Amino acid sequence: MSTTEAHTEVPVFDADFVHDLHARYAEIRDATPVQRMVTPNGLPVWVITRYADARAALADPRLSKEVTRIRDVIAENLPPDSDHRAFDESLASHMLNMDPPDHTRLRKLVVKAFTSRRVEALRPRIEQITAGLLDDMAEKSEVDLLDAFAFPLPIQVISELVGVDESRRDDFRAWTNTLLDASDRDAAGAAAVAMAQYLTELIEHKRRQPADDLLTALIDSTEDQDRLSDKELIAMVFLLLVAGHETTVNLIANGVLHLLRDPDQWAALRADPDLVAGAVEEMLRFDGPVMHGTFRFTAEPLPVGGVEIPAGQIVWVGLAAANRDPEQFPEPERFDITRDAHGHLAFGHGIHFCLGAQLARLEAQIALRGLVERFPNLTAAGSLDDAQWRFSTLIHGLRALPVRPTGG
Ligand code: HEM
Repeated sequence: MSTTEAHTEVPVFDADFVHDLHARYAEIRDATPVQRMVTPNGLPVWVITRYADARAALADPRLSKEVTRIRDVIAENLPPDSDHRAFDESLASHMLNMDPPDHTRLRKLVVKAFTSRRVEALRPRIEQITAGLLDDMAEKSEVDLLDAFAFPLPIQVISELVGVDESRRDDFRAWTNTLLDASDRDAAGAAAVAMAQYLTELIEHKRRQPADDLLTALIDSTEDQDRLSDKELIAMVFLLLVAGHETTVNLIANGVLHLLRDPDQWAALRADPDLVAGAVEEMLRFDGPVMHGTFRFTAEPLPVGGVEIPAGQIVWVGLAAANRDPEQFPEPERFDITRDAHGHLAFGHGIHFCLGAQLARLEAQIALRGLVERFPNLTAAGSLDDAQWRFSTLIHGLRALPVRPTGG
């Protein structure tokens, strides 16, 4: 085993990389499945691209999510004024940035409040919101599917589920956008402070006036006499809202892009809308929306894919690359809504497996079924070949998707 063979200073995650995401991941996977690369701002990361390695890494306790350790590596490698993401300490101390036992404790408390029953009970409301958005679309000859449909649906659902006032929803969208996209540290810092302040007020309000929503359930959630502190509540709600804002949005939009690019697939779904559940899994596998990869940190040396990653390194588990590994998914570059996409890693794997997976699936299935039934002849307004992707390491999403909503 060697650590030197896999050392390259190949830049990763620059604008070209994001634009050509899957081809670039495929090159890395074919050449050196575990490779040390460098981000545009000079941060070294070890990139894992094979399915088997990625799945094993996600479940390996030697790989930590502890955010303070990752920050130490950033501080060692980047000058203090470098352009990396700023985030407020209180918001970042949520369970996705923690290892057991802290993670186990927090996840237990939120799982108690975020039950399958609570998610399934949302079905009629999600159908109602979807129908309203489709009605609005039907009045126009051309719309941006992101603005008119893919954005408002999940945002409304997560805001209602958690209990965010209607009047603050636009603020929320603006804050999360700034936090996820900004390379401007001041803007991101200001958005984090504004959000933390609003969440503090919201928690106080729900304490005084409990409601039938997730935030009230989280406030009340207890496990062996344990409950969430105020600081933990803020970080948890922040995680849920950010995850609930930008994820399903891009699952819907990326999926529709591929369905429109391949008219046979759209026709198959139109002929049999019951294919929708499998279609959503294939959409997740083929072009998952957020986190085309996720960070970990080596707490000790880690042998993986024939190399040994030393302790104290940042590891990037390439979920999008793993989901197109031909060893796992035959003909992975073919988008096929009837294939068995089971086992994809778009929601992660192991103890941090996405808490919102059931909700995201439900929303995407309702959205897609609604769209194909209401607008069976939906077409793109413009070329689908030069779709523009947003530039972000966290999100894999389009800037816009102009479509012509046409009925039967
Ligand atoms: C974790 C993807 C929607 C809440 C994760 C992880 C992935 C992921 C890959 C694991 C990250 C890691 O291990 O480092 C997605 C995708 C979604 C989606 C692709 C939509 C298509 C949602 C929604 C919510 C949510 C709607 C909330 C309502 C969470 C939470 C975690 C998480 C709380 C952290 C779990 C933990 O640390 O134990 N998600 N997510 N996600 N997701 Fe999602």
